[in-house]
Amino acid sequence: MTKKNIVVIYFSGTNVTATYAKAIAKELTKLGNQVRDFNITPYASRQIPLAVEEYDGFIFGFPVYSDIAPGVVNEWLTKLDGKGKKCAMFFTYGGRTSGYAHFHTFQLLQHAGFQVEFSAEFPGPHTYNVGGWTALTDRPNSNDMDVARNFAALAIQRFSAPETSGFILQKPFGYKQAMDAKKNRPQRTERGWTNPVRSTETCDMCRLCETECPTQSFNADTGLSDFTTCIDCMHCVYICPQQVIKINEGMKGAYQKFLSDYCLTEEMMSAKKSKLITRSWEAAA
Ligand SMILES: Cc1cc2nc3c(=O)[nH]c(=O)nc-3n(C[C@H](O)[C@H](O)[C@H](O)COP(=O)(O)O)c2cc1C
Repeated sequence: MTKKNIVVIYFSGTNVTATYAKAIAKELTKLGNQVRDFNITPYASRQIPLAVEEYDGFIFGFPVYSDIAPGVVNEWLTKLDGKGKKCAMFFTYGGRTSGYAHFHTFQLLQHAGFQVEFSAEFPGPHTYNVGGWTALTDRPNSNDMDVARNFAALAIQRFSAPETSGFILQKPFGYKQAMDAKKNRPQRTERGWTNPVRSTETCDMCRLCETECPTQSFNADTGLSDFTTCIDCMHCVYICPQQVIKINEGMKGAYQKFLSDYCLTEEMMSAKKSKLITRSWEAAA
């Protein structure tokens, strides 16, 4: 197979998606391909145009936020022109469900002019683990990493094939109702438990919280996030070198409510497996 020029594009608040993206990129490189790592988490990174014509294949990796990829990602995808190029996508999720993410992003990528060849999903620690939750703290494990390597091998196979895979996803049951409910969800009117706040009066003022914020919500001077635009990605909490950005202590206790609301146990979440999705019926299930 001739060497391909691949770009691995990902959004990652707490490094879960980045970990899988880097594992896929490493395997692609090992297989003799040229790989660009493109992290679209910081707001500024999404203002740079993507030179689609430079690449032979695209890999998109996003976390699942309430059943679909984050809104800022979806907005960015609508601005791309895929020029008929082949891509593969993957999603990470915190042990509950990947929801409608496969179908939703599939539609956006198709609409942007990409040819989606296949998809995958990988369970990982929940974003709110930064607030004291303990979901899937031992992931990714060696099985997850095996699937990530298989993902890379399949991507090269599909990007090298002259024909397309014919991968198509059907609209999942309940999709329209779920999307309508999202549209009609009221905007936040006050600071909630998940809004990051600097826990000390002063810090070194490296400003990473502000410059890396995906939505320009965090203000390093006040130490507060704008609750109307903050998307709860916890990127500021995760990357703060001094670990002084926190969410409300009460969030820790909300873990038990989360488990009971979704009729979940930690054992059930641990049983979730990484998987490649190459046929429509698997994703719709
Ligand atoms: C606002 C929000 C919504 C989420 N919704 C879901 C969900 O619907 N299902 C799920 O299993 N995990 C959900 N999660 C957890 C993340 O999908 C998961 O932890 C992901 O792997 C985080 O990746 P990252 O660190 O790369 O951002 C949600 C997290 C956040 C912050």
